[in-house]
Amino acid sequence: MNVTDQLKDQSKDQSINVIELREITRFYKLAEQVIVRALRGVDFSARAGEFVSVMGPSGSGKSTLMNILGCLDKPNGGSYRLDGIETSAASPDDFALIRNEKIGFVFQSFNLLSRTTALENVELPLFYNRSRRLPGQAGKARTYRERAKAILREVGLGDRLNHVPSQLSGGQQQRVAIARAMVNDPAFILADEPTGNLDTEMTLEIMGLFQELNRQGKTIVMVTHEPELAAYTKRTITLRDGELVSDQRAGAGRDAAEDLRRWKKDHVLLAGEVSV
Ligand SMILES: Nc1ncnc2c1ncn2[C@@H]1O[C@H](COP(=O)(O)OP(=O)(O)OP(=O)(O)O)[C@@H](O)[C@H]1O
Ligand SMILES: [Mg+2]
Repeated sequence: MNVTDQLKDQSKDQSINVIELREITRFYKLAEQVIVRALRGVDFSARAGEFVSVMGPSGSGKSTLMNILGCLDKPNGGSYRLDGIETSAASPDDFALIRNEKIGFVFQSFNLLSRTTALENVELPLFYNRSRRLPGQAGKARTYRERAKAILREVGLGDRLNHVPSQLSGGQQQRVAIARAMVNDPAFILADEPTGNLDTEMTLEIMGLFQELNRQGKTIVMVTHEPELAAYTKRTITLRDGELVSDQRAGAGRDAAEDLRRWKKDHVLLAGEVSV
C-alpha cells in the first residue's frame, strides 16, 4: 500500500505505537574527513496518549530528533514508523502529506500569519488536507469554519475569533497555534520549546492546556531545556551526544493548573489589597 492509501486506511490497529524509531542515525558531513554524528542509533517508541518531554544539553541532538519526528528531515539509517506508516520510503510529496495529516506543530515563535485572524489561521491546515477532501466534501468551507471555531473554543479563545495576532497576548497567540496544530486531529503534537517566549503566568497556562489536552487523549512530544517544564509531562527522555541516555516515567507529576493558581495567589493582587 502506498502512503496515500495508508493515510486513507481508517482501519488501523489502535494498539500500535504512534511513534516507533529504530536505530535512527543522522550524521552531517562537514568535510571529507569531518563527520558530526548528531544521532547515533536512537530507539524510541511512544503510544497514543503519552506526554513526553525531550531534554538534553545543547548540541545533544534534540532538534535533529525533532526534525526527524516531524518528517522535516530523513535519517541516514534506521526506520521510523509513524502511526503505522513506514516513512523511510516516502517521497517528498508523501512527506508533506504525512506532516499535514499526522503531525501538529507548535513552535516557540508561534508562526502565525500576521494579517490573518485567529479563525483563519486555524482553518488553514484544513484546506491543505487532501485525504479529507473526498468526493462530495470539496469546498466544505462552512464545515471547516465550524470545526476551527470549535477548536478555538476548546483552547479558551471562543471570544477572540476575529482578532489578528498583534491583538492577542503571547499566551493567546500560542493557544491559536495549538488550535491550528489540533485542527486536523493529528496522531501527535510536536512542540519545540513552546513556552520559550512566554512569561511565567502564560507558561503555566500553556502547560495547563497541554495537560488538559493530554487528559483528553492527545499525544504530545515536547522539547524543553527546563526540568521544571518536563515535570508537567508524564515521561522524559534525555539525549546526550546523539544517544538516548535515559527514559523516565513520572509518577503523579506536577499539575500546571494548580501551580498557576498558587502563582496567582502570590503575584496578583486583588483590587483593594493595595493602594496606588
Ligand atoms: N545542518 C547541520 N550541519 C552540520 N552539523 C549540524 C547540523 N545541524 C546540527 N548539527 C550538529 O549536530 C549536533 C546536534 O545538533 P542539534 O541541533 O540537534 O542539537 P540540540 O540538542 O538541538 O541543541 P540546542 O539545545 O543548542 O538547540 C551538534 O553537534 C550540531 O553542531
Ligand atoms: Mg535545538
